Amino acid sequence: MAILEIHDLHYGYGSGKDRREVLRGLEASFEQGKVYAVTGKSGAGKSTLLSLLSALTLPQQGEILFEGTPTSRLDPMEYRRRCVAVVYQDFALFPLLNVTENIMYPMELCGVPKDKALADAHALAAQVGLGEELWNRYPSAISGGEQQRVAIARGMAMDRRLILADEPTGNLDSENSDQIIRLLLEAAHRDDRCVIVVTHDPDVAGRADKVLLMRDGVLAER
Ligand SMILES: Nc1ncnc2c1ncn2[C@@H]1O[C@H](COP(=O)(O)OP(=O)(O)O)[C@@H](O)[C@H]1O
Ligand SMILES: [Mg+2]
Repeated sequence: MAILEIHDLHYGYGSGKDRREVLRGLEASFEQGKVYAVTGKSGAGKSTLLSLLSALTLPQQGEILFEGTPTSRLDPMEYRRRCVAVVYQDFALFPLLNVTENIMYPMELCGVPKDKALADAHALAAQVGLGEELWNRYPSAISGGEQQRVAIARGMAMDRRLILADEPTGNLDSENSDQIIRLLLEAAHRDDRCVIVVTHDPDVAGRADKVLLMRDGVLAER
């Protein structure tokens, strides 16, 4: 069964003569266990779609069903804590929290006991290849590639079934971006998550299970 189904999704910005329709009757469906690459020109509406999928915004027409329930009927905070993780291009790490604390954050929001959260955070850090010497460092004291891996480890916390990533390799060199791609593939293929990656990176698109193109307000399979 699809984890996400999108029917007749419309979304635009502004009103009156400033109105701009970005999504115009988009249809799509996404399954667990797969990596989807969403490509398309800048301004096509890819980030708008991700914010709708993470229930940061709600459809203006049509609906997005998460496991059969419209996002408009979900508690958005609970949905983001338990079901969907978003990894942003600029990492969005908390500058005053160290690596371990950044990864622990979603678990603390969900009330996971501190020692379990700590143990899980260390396991996740190791899983994304962050050595022990980095665990107590602050984001300003690690490289861009390492910051991106912290963001991914934080996204993996709480076993959320849906991972949304907006240009996750955009700021990385090819070696670091290869590692990120492998982590996203593993999250889908080994851990049965649904991974949706917005990307311009042909390496990411080339290794995804499905490539979708956003154009004229709809998504088409490539
Ligand atoms: N908050 C906003 N207010 C007005 N227009 C916006 C807003 N966010 C995005 N847009 C416009 O919507 C269109 C789609 O943006 P976006 O979803 O960010 O595209 P992409 O991620 O594909 O580059 C762009 O024309 C952008 O300028
Ligand atoms: Mg964007």
